[in-house]
Amino acid sequence: MDTALLAWFRRNGADLPWRRTRDPYAILVSEVMLQQTQVARVVPRYERWLERWPDVQALAAAAAGEVIVEWQGLGYNRRGLNLHRSAHVVAEHGWPDDLTELPGIGAYTAAAVRAFAFGEAVLPRDTNVLRIEERTGHRFDPRCGQALMDLGRTVCVARVPRCDRCPLAARCPSRGRTYEPLRKQSPFEGSFRQRRAATLRLVAKQPRELAALDVDAVRALERDGLVATADGVVRLPS
Ligand code: ADE
Repeated sequence: MDTALLAWFRRNGADLPWRRTRDPYAILVSEVMLQQTQVARVVPRYERWLERWPDVQALAAAAAGEVIVEWQGLGYNRRGLNLHRSAHVVAEHGWPDDLTELPGIGAYTAAAVRAFAFGEAVLPRDTNVLRIEERTGHRFDPRCGQALMDLGRTVCVARVPRCDRCPLAARCPSRGRTYEPLRKQSPFEGSFRQRRAATLRLVAKQPRELAALDVDAVRALERDGLVATADGVVRLPS
């Protein structure tokens, strides 16, 4: 399966900017952005981010508020803030051996940086990779990481996989199956997330009176360090 997959990837793989670098900082930025945002939307944001903050030192020197504003539209603002916090740690102490010590870096992101930046033989397992492994019953070689991400995004998709285009179909026990949608988030969680996001957008434009805002959303944003309130005025952290 690995050989068929890698041959497919050579012909069909996407040419993405983070695939042309081995800089762990750039890889980390890409992976954190890709956690909730589609590839096509990440590309310009990734490029802009790296122009603005080309290395960990540059990002560490930025104000948290600037980072939050630059992150707008990429979803889950805590991730942007954690990236900033990670930059502080790395700027001061260098890259830790165990990357999961960095704020917000879980097993998947750590494995992705180890594989794509440091060239280690680990396979980062995101939801795409896990799904393909489950459907095929195959454990892929670590060299298949980027190929699996493209296959999961374009062919072995969650609900109606395009098995007619799949290089693994001949040997796949799940060939031809389709899948019910999974609801990952309750409507309540979704709407509170939207309230938080809307509140953060308002505060990012200019400091606002707490009384004029959605107070529950402000409290949640404060707990995550995304806004700070003083004298009844809510603003981005400095
Ligand atoms: N999704 C997560 N990481 C990715 C990568 N390196 N390339 C494409 N999609 C991804």
